[in-house]
Amino acid sequence: MGGITSFIKRKILRIDRDRWNYQYDKGLWNGLQGIDELARFSVIVGYIKFLKPGQPVILEIGCGEGFLQQRLQTQNYGRYVGMDISDSAIKTAHAQADEKCTYQVGDMDRYQPEGAFDLIIFNESIYYSRHPFLTLQRYATYLKANGLLVVTINNHKHSDELWASIKDGFELFDEATTVTTKTTCVCKVLIPRGVNN
Ligand SMILES: C[S@@+](CC[C@H](N)C(=O)[O-])C[C@H]1O[C@@H](n2cnc3c(N)ncnc32)[C@H](O)[C@@H]1O
Repeated sequence: MGGITSFIKRKILRIDRDRWNYQYDKGLWNGLQGIDELARFSVIVGYIKFLKPGQPVILEIGCGEGFLQQRLQTQNYGRYVGMDISDSAIKTAHAQADEKCTYQVGDMDRYQPEGAFDLIIFNESIYYSRHPFLTLQRYATYLKANGLLVVTINNHKHSDELWASIKDGFELFDEATTVTTKTTCVCKVLIPRGVNN
């Protein structure tokens, strides 16, 4: 049974990864660099600089082609770890990274990062976890004391439900909503309840 489960999981992972690779290779996510996506990146950049000035250690889950790290300056982080299921996106991210960055391929539902982080960011990526609440709780165990989670979710018909499903595990530290010509996006800074803070 364990063998079958693991086979199915491997297969699903491969299908997911192939689909994302195909989309990145086709340029279907080039729009993420557009001006109408700038606001949500700018809010996260602002939070990083304000909340963790200096050299924070940052983990970004579902980092895509690394646009968030590219919108930061190298002095804004001590170490930046980006992870994504798409090796194609990670290759692009890696090509533009500096020596303080590590980009890795992985599945957020299974990935086990090394070390502890000041900030863990899910920028438009938590949707893709099979269990968003459990995933955020698991990643919260990789936060340093006083570490924070930063999560963005674009407004769509299930977004309220998604926020409601994670609410109980986290205290809201701050939130900002950006409205562009294309989307409305909510960014929340969350403190995990009862982990290490
Ligand atoms: C909407 S894109 C956002 C990318 C990036 N955070 C940004 O805002 O530009 C969602 C990203 O999540 C990644 N992703 C999807 N499922 C994933 C999984 N199970 N584990 C890790 N990354 C995943 C995709 O490859 C994609 O890069």
